[in-house]
Amino acid sequence: MSQYSPNPQIAVLDTGGQYTHLIARKVRELGVYAEVLASETPAAELSRFHGVIISGGPASVYEAGSPTIDPALLTSGVPVLGICYGIQLISHLLDGNVAKGDRGEYGVATLELTAADTLIEGVLNNRQVWMSHRDTVTAAPSGFHVFARTGTCAVAAMSNPEKKQYGVQFHPEVVHTPEGTKILSNFLFKICCCQKDWNPRSRVPAIEERIREVTAGRKVFFFVSGGVDSTVAYTLCLKALGDDRVHGAYVDTGLMRDGETEFVQGIFASLGAKSFHVEDARTRFLDALAGVTEPERKRHIIGELFVEVQETILQSGHYLDVDWILGQGTIYPDTIESGGTSKADLIKTHHNRVAGIQKLIDAKRIVEPLSSFYKDEVREAGRELGLPAELLDRHPFPGPGLAIRCLCSEADFELKQDYDGWVLPVHSVGVQGDSRSYRAALAIDTLDHAAATRLTNERLDVNRIVGLTAARVPLASMKVHRSELNAPRLARLRKADSIVRSMSLASGFEKQVWQFPVVLIPVGDAVNQDSVVLRPIDSVDGMTAQSVLMPPELLRQMCEALLAVDGICAVFYDLTHKPPGTIEWE
Ligand code: XMP
Repeated sequence: MSQYSPNPQIAVLDTGGQYTHLIARKVRELGVYAEVLASETPAAELSRFHGVIISGGPASVYEAGSPTIDPALLTSGVPVLGICYGIQLISHLLDGNVAKGDRGEYGVATLELTAADTLIEGVLNNRQVWMSHRDTVTAAPSGFHVFARTGTCAVAAMSNPEKKQYGVQFHPEVVHTPEGTKILSNFLFKICCCQKDWNPRSRVPAIEERIREVTAGRKVFFFVSGGVDSTVAYTLCLKALGDDRVHGAYVDTGLMRDGETEFVQGIFASLGAKSFHVEDARTRFLDALAGVTEPERKRHIIGELFVEVQETILQSGHYLDVDWILGQGTIYPDTIESGGTSKADLIKTHHNRVAGIQKLIDAKRIVEPLSSFYKDEVREAGRELGLPAELLDRHPFPGPGLAIRCLCSEADFELKQDYDGWVLPVHSVGVQGDSRSYRAALAIDTLDHAAATRLTNERLDVNRIVGLTAARVPLASMKVHRSELNAPRLARLRKADSIVRSMSLASGFEKQVWQFPVVLIPVGDAVNQDSVVLRPIDSVDGMTAQSVLMPPELLRQMCEALLAVDGICAVFYDLTHKPPGTIEWE
């Protein structure tokens, strides 16, 4: 439990589903503070909650080793709502029955209400619900009544009102279930008798008070990145402690987007931060990366150098002395161990553990005011603090910066044409099942997501499909050029990224996507040796993502502007979802 939040009223038990955090966020949106806990949390620990929600998950309840809950929860008297896997688990642990359905049910279905129940009070009949399951409850446990079904699911909702135990096969937490909010609200307020206690904006004064307690007269040091989380956390400390007691440092790696360092300086100047330091490490990073082409080596070099630079700052500024503590913009999902994030580490290396920082964490000399907030809630708190929308609504940007968007090649390679299109021998990272892939891309001549999905399923030699959208010369005249990460290529990428960013901001397209990486690949003719890949995606948390198409006229104008940049030969559009591609190419 975080020291910056109220006592949680609702526990969401994580059985490995992709929507677990979404359930907790929805509950919080209804004004009730909820936290995510491991599914097997002992019932004794859950007795302090007003209610427990068991999440969905990909496993089958009858398979050995599948996630479960402490069965004592079901005799403890705490109200329980099982969603998807959760309803199946309740049935399985009591005396109901769960079996594999004749066919799966994925996508929207119509929910027919067949009896009255507190959970569906005020809910309209025959409304759409979102289903995603193969297993299904075939017999409700004794004491339960069934009150809803769909065309393929006989037990879509059930309850034992006397024991306050409820289950739904569909997902009330997703937008595709329009009555879902009402259902969750009934569970919270009519069944669990929760009180409203959560509003990220009105938490700000309590958090500032808590910062004063935790810091206990000491000063706070921050590494800031210009991202939303570290800036909001810094601002909270600045407001709580005053500008004499908060110091920030920003490392300019030279791998940032156009105007980034100036933007960050501007934000901190406008906050009235007296003590804010920019460490110019551009040459060190560029020197360390010279001649490196392999993505994981790039990541390691950047990670290690970042650690070195941070250590030097910590030591030379005496920030490890006892009168300092470390501030961090850690947010709620980072504080919870989840299968999803630990898995991502195997696909790509993320570096963020500096020895000095670890020492401060171990000594509990750390202040993390946002550790109970979700990203949307951080933005809300930021609005309350008066931070500009320009900062709060920024897309995420990866720590290693443009280095992992500037692809390099150790040698020249020819492009190869086959039945499906042109194979571009530039390798990028992908994720299939749980494992990393590192393969070539295939260029096709249409912007067709269905074709892209089919081709990545069918072909073993590529993990990414791009559509060719504009070019100075035909693909037959292009090849992959031997290339490295150097200042001219970074400048070219920075220019392309800046064109794309300003046009998508001006057109409003920026708001329709979650992130929009622009990638430079060493594909071109003898004169213009690079090409640009546009990678606009939609996502909830970056774990999975959909490639998104932009309006044709905007794309046309963007291509025209990009092809006017010296050194750029063609513009491609990444059509690959995640999986099988990752969001970044490296
Ligand atoms: P991938 O490429 O793994 O990206 O699909 C998922 C999300 O993570 C971001 N990303 C990073 N963020 N340090 C970061 O802080 C990193 O090393 C890093 N690598 C990827 C990526 O931009 C996307 O939002």
